[in-house]
Amino acid sequence: MVRHLVSIMDMKNCLEEIIDFAIDIKTNPSKYKDSMDSCSLGMIFEKSSTRTRVSFEVAMTQLGGHALFLSPKDLQIGRGETIADTARVLSRYLDCIMYRAFDYKNVEELALHSEIPVINGLDNREHPCQIVADLMTVKERFTNLKGLKMVYVGDGNNVCHSLLLGGAMQGMNVVANCPKNYHPWKEIVDKATMLAEETGGSVKIIEDPLEACIDADVIYTDVWVSMGDEKEEEEREAAFMKYQVNEKLVEVASNDCIVLHCLPAHRGMEITDEVIDGKHSAAWDQAENRMHAQKAIILDLYKNE
Ligand code: CP
Ligand code: NVA
Repeated sequence: MVRHLVSIMDMKNCLEEIIDFAIDIKTNPSKYKDSMDSCSLGMIFEKSSTRTRVSFEVAMTQLGGHALFLSPKDLQIGRGETIADTARVLSRYLDCIMYRAFDYKNVEELALHSEIPVINGLDNREHPCQIVADLMTVKERFTNLKGLKMVYVGDGNNVCHSLLLGGAMQGMNVVANCPKNYHPWKEIVDKATMLAEETGGSVKIIEDPLEACIDADVIYTDVWVSMGDEKEEEEREAAFMKYQVNEKLVEVASNDCIVLHCLPAHRGMEITDEVIDGKHSAAWDQAENRMHAQKAIILDLYKNE
């Protein structure tokens, strides 16, 4: 049966295996160089991208395959062809589809009608590919994920959602440090809490940044204004100013803590120059790991169909 990565929940039983696979691919890239020989990945982007687009495209080239950038403006979707029909047709040409969408329901719809794997390249609910690379980066630094304290500081958004679920799946103690009115969705927090009960991890929401970051092994942040939220820019900046990841937060974290940011970063807003360029930052390894993680995701979905 065809498998998709729409939510990080789709990897509930294999997330650790995929993280380890991504680390092996990073260590031994030549072992996998023909794994997607003559295969094509279609990439539909409704929103901008630097990392996701380039890492998927380069990943496919390095695996011996090919990636096509598909803008919805140029596809017939832009002129009213349904997502279901698009899925039916693309399934006849391609081997895999990556979709970055405004609405998660459209990613679900594409997957429902696709005969080939669909990978969510970010929507308004989740960013599952990002979290594979993030947890890979944490595992490279700490060897084991279980029991680590990971604090997400900022907006309870798509990245926060996948991080809560993925971290809980790995038995981590995950904290969402978000201001009132910007908490992660309740359904996600409930799901993550249930996962943590199974794995021995925990999930907490703490509104005070200093309290949340005490003894953190990982501090993670993301933009305050996600793609699609631009109209709320002013009110969001006011609500999040106290949630900047700066030296004060790093000081209360564990001595060997790492700081992650999915990027793009807005320096001076959600993170300071000192922190993102400082000794605790692992943001550039994290960005690199997107490419190794994309390979692991593609190969896992494609080979285990
Ligand atoms: N982190 C991330 O997904 O970056 P892009 O928006 O550049 O793809
Ligand atoms: N939360 C951000 C992530 C960007 C990679 C957004 O959705 O714009």
